Amino acid sequence: MRETTRVAIIGAGPAGLTLALLLRRNGIDCVVLERRARSYVEQRQRAGVLDHHATRIFDQAGLADEILTGAPAETLLELRYDGSPHFLDVPSLAGGRPSRSLPQQLLVRRLLAAVGDVRFEAREVALHDLTSSRPRVTYTDADGGSHEIACSYIAGCDGFHGVSRRSIPSAAVTTYEFDHGIGWLTLLADAPPPRYPLMAISSHGYAAQFARGPAASRFYLQFFADDPLAWPSSYVWDQLRLRLGDPSLPTGTITDREVVEMRSFVTEPMAYGRLHLAGDAAHIITPMGAKGMNLALSDAATLAAALIDGSPGALEAYSSSCLARTWDAQEFSRWFTEMVHDAGIADPFRRKLARARFERLFRSPPAAAAFADLMSGTDY
Ligand code: APR
Repeated sequence: MRETTRVAIIGAGPAGLTLALLLRRNGIDCVVLERRARSYVEQRQRAGVLDHHATRIFDQAGLADEILTGAPAETLLELRYDGSPHFLDVPSLAGGRPSRSLPQQLLVRRLLAAVGDVRFEAREVALHDLTSSRPRVTYTDADGGSHEIACSYIAGCDGFHGVSRRSIPSAAVTTYEFDHGIGWLTLLADAPPPRYPLMAISSHGYAAQFARGPAASRFYLQFFADDPLAWPSSYVWDQLRLRLGDPSLPTGTITDREVVEMRSFVTEPMAYGRLHLAGDAAHIITPMGAKGMNLALSDAATLAAALIDGSPGALEAYSSSCLARTWDAQEFSRWFTEMVHDAGIADPFRRKLARARFERLFRSPPAAAAFADLMSGTDY
């Protein structure tokens, strides 16, 4: 089957769906191809915070009711150092710009409902003629039918392992990779959530606890050499009590365990011919600062604005403006990563630096405001 559209979007994650929604609401025809089944996409649990900049994307497009309803504004952030609590009022420090809690699976479900037609279980997606004015995408549907879509632009929103970035000749891009040498065990547990998002710094390693609904928590525990998936639950709870400095931390059934390795990756430029990359297809960031999903949404909004504008200049500026934001976030995430993890490393000099970095946030109002500004999302 042959068809024509203005923009072929590969991937129905936060980036692809936000782009599709913004384009369709502005009368621009697009087709969204997704490798997975709808149920998988709707249930995938990953990020959970929309920073203030990302919430404004939906506000400004008149989509706040459809997308943001019921998502609570974040208030305080607790940074606990060796068991001693310290609070930052991030929204106030950022000039009244709160982030909002919205689990990714709920955001994705709302985006899917608003977008409408998405082609799930699209197999063997392949990109063709990227440097021509009429690129094409071919794929096979779930029943084995072959399809070809001719378009004006392709948006590669298919995540880190997708086909889009791999369709660019390697000589046409530079990639930057960094292994932070840090791993976390993440747990979902039926344990009462903390009142405020909680990050704990200690010489035993980093730990964190965030609310996942009224009766569940997501915990993070830095691990060192051994395999944390083999840790008995009793050891997990002992480590959480120790690192959170809370001997009476309520426990609960652990319903999910996963390992997260802290890696960063950036592709430059984020475009090749008529293909534009957005979100994880172009860059990976550590979870510190919660910028992964927010960068994906910001890329989508920048790309949508350029496609709606339609001028060659707007599309040419896409890559450099997204990369400026991406590197800014990478630097913030690395800064934050060192601050909360270096208390547990062997090097005494770096431990002292990390302590000074932490204390500056509570001694210097401008330093706290700069931190809050980055947490809320920079407006460029
Ligand atoms: N063909 C079609 N779809 C594909 C293909 C392919 N070859 N490869 C991957 N996909 C789909 C995936 O199944 C997935 O649904 O592309 C989608 C990519 O979505 P994400 O990986 O969520 O990427 P993105 O939209 O950029 O959002 C990334 O969101 O989960 C947060 O913090 C996380 O940084 C991350 C951000």
